[in-house]
Amino acid sequence: MIVPGTSSQSLAAALADELGEPLAAVEYDRFPDGETLAAVPSFDAERAVVVAATDSNDAWVELLQLQDAVREAGTSEVVTVIPYMGYARQDRAFEPGEPVSARAMARAISTGTDRVVLVNPHEESVADFFDVHVAVCDAAGCLAEPLPEGLSEPLFLSPDAGAVDLAEAARTAYGAGETDYFEKHRRSGTEVEITPSDTDAAGRDVVIVDDIVATGTTMSEAVAHLDADGAERVFAACVHPLLARNARTKLERAGIERIIGTDTLERDVSAVSVAPIVAAAVEAVEAT
Ligand code: R5P
Repeated sequence: MIVPGTSSQSLAAALADELGEPLAAVEYDRFPDGETLAAVPSFDAERAVVVAATDSNDAWVELLQLQDAVREAGTSEVVTVIPYMGYARQDRAFEPGEPVSARAMARAISTGTDRVVLVNPHEESVADFFDVHVAVCDAAGCLAEPLPEGLSEPLFLSPDAGAVDLAEAARTAYGAGETDYFEKHRRSGTEVEITPSDTDAAGRDVVIVDDIVATGTTMSEAVAHLDADGAERVFAACVHPLLARNARTKLERAGIERIIGTDTLERDVSAVSVAPIVAAAVEAVEAT
């Protein structure tokens, strides 16, 4: 039975279709003091696949509650799908005294599950923080699907070297174009410095591919450079369309042609579902 968190209801329904399993009717409530309560009154299955993007503190608590609720209902196996893992970017203590938040969250989640499925965590090494088996899905290839056909001399670009594999996966799935990357230096949470590559973007359609668009600073800086270089259309493609604060405004003002994301976070730009690859990972995990 597929058990959705509040933030992943559409993805959970798509996953239920893919796996041919029923979708649980979860009840989400909030007490007067602000505490949340997620319950699964009708749960009755051997296996629970809990699907919850953790894009807020409440979502993390809700996920722990759902894991506990299905155990309490007597399920013998819990698979936890975290399509977007919040706090994954704090995967080390950057300054003395800071926590490794990703590790703290992973340990908490591990206590309530037999297995975990992640989609493009910020770094793949985040999987090592869990105490249970973790399958990591790469959804970058899915980003090619919503792109228009016949892009002009397409250039798939990542904003930094670390994301070039995502750009390459999207290019491969699109079936045409070149791949390159910019260099990025982050000055603060909302300030980045981008150094363009040598590839000539003039007159070309460019797809910037990244794992996440958070504040939109990285993408809008990259668009500004491409615009100055005379790029034709610029598409912003990301696995996780977090779109925090004024990210949309920044991207619109930068002149982006279109933002494309997956449904790891359910936004109006979520043009493609990761359900098929997550379903495959759940089934593969089952086979291990
Ligand atoms: C950073 O390493 C990530 O890959 C993204 O580039 C970053 O999280 C995007 O953040 P923002 O949209 O706030 O620039």
